[in-house]
Amino acid sequence: MLLKLKQWLPWGVSSNSAPVTTDGARITFFGGKGGVGKTTCAAAYAIGQASRGEQVLLVSTDPAHSLGDLLELPLGMKDHTVCPGLTALEIDPGQAMKRYLGEVQHNLQQLASPELRDAATRQAQLAMQAPGAEEAALFDEIVRLVLDRGHQFHEIVFDTAPTGHTLQLLTLPEVMGTWADGLLARRLESSDRWPDRGGSSASVEASAEDRAAAILRRRRDRFRAMRDCLRDPGRTRFVPVLNPDTLSREETGRMVTALTRQSLTVDCLIINRVMPPVAVENEGDFWRQRRATEAGHLQAIERDFHQLQQFRLPLSAGEIQGLAALKELSLTLPGLVSRPAQH
Ligand SMILES: Nc1ncnc2c1ncn2[C@@H]1O[C@H](COP(=O)(O)OP(=O)(O)O)[C@@H](O)[C@H]1O
Ligand SMILES: [Mg+2]
Repeated sequence: MLLKLKQWLPWGVSSNSAPVTTDGARITFFGGKGGVGKTTCAAAYAIGQASRGEQVLLVSTDPAHSLGDLLELPLGMKDHTVCPGLTALEIDPGQAMKRYLGEVQHNLQQLASPELRDAATRQAQLAMQAPGAEEAALFDEIVRLVLDRGHQFHEIVFDTAPTGHTLQLLTLPEVMGTWADGLLARRLESSDRWPDRGGSSASVEASAEDRAAAILRRRRDRFRAMRDCLRDPGRTRFVPVLNPDTLSREETGRMVTALTRQSLTVDCLIINRVMPPVAVENEGDFWRQRRATEAGHLQAIERDFHQLQQFRLPLSAGEIQGLAALKELSLTLPGLVSRPAQH
């Protein structure tokens, strides 16, 4: 998959030519196994931050898109004001692909001689059907939000897709930066750049090569800025969400290892759906057994993730949907907000 991504990602460069900067909003990713409560926790956290006076952007990168349903709002790629201080959007893979295709096409056309431009367009359209193209487009949107809009917010909160997908996206800046470096170092053999470009003149080749190098340099700078941002512990952190059960514990263990290996900061986790304490004499065997099972998992989580600050969110009796329910839940997440604002 990464090989396919490598093929196409470098050409989807944003046409934004502003200098690449790394200062701006803090970034918090919520991640974990499917169904553990990532979207719920990300939304509750973002609402809590906004209610403390911060400007927050809440972004869903999960193609399953339950953020809009949870907030009961018709979210899309455009900013939607949820409440004072909180803006939300959902990255739509189809629209992200369209935008990405436009940029890939634009860039390839700059590289191709005039007589090959139609072929360049067809090539770009084919590229969009290749495996990995959707991830490339999604990643491009994330980079765009972090690098180009980070200065507008105190914090950007990402509600991510289940673990594997997110991990792959987060390791991309490193992979892509290294690859762009390699390409630049080789000064782009013309066959790498455009396989069918026979018949073009030497001067067209030379200027196309300059343009290709400029695109790649810009792309590399953005990947580096994104990588630096992701690895800056004062700026970015990843918050795993898990439930007190075996499967999500195991998946969280693998995820924390993978993220730490990538030098990404994981300093806390959220244990969601913890049963509230009740009077023991009211409980039957079923609930006693469930409670004992849960207590075992909570102990194991405390032991296995002792290096991380741990927050417990209670299992709610009713459904959690809409702003009022999320606001209530946000009151149980105060410890997460201990980081100082950067501006
Ligand atoms: N603490 C909780 N108590 C009760 N229900 C919860 C809790 N957290 C999440 N849920 C419910 O569980 C389901 C999955 O949550 P969601 O946040 O969409 O998970 P994910 O984003 O990890 O797939 C939703 O129906 C949500 O309302
Ligand atoms: Mg979700």
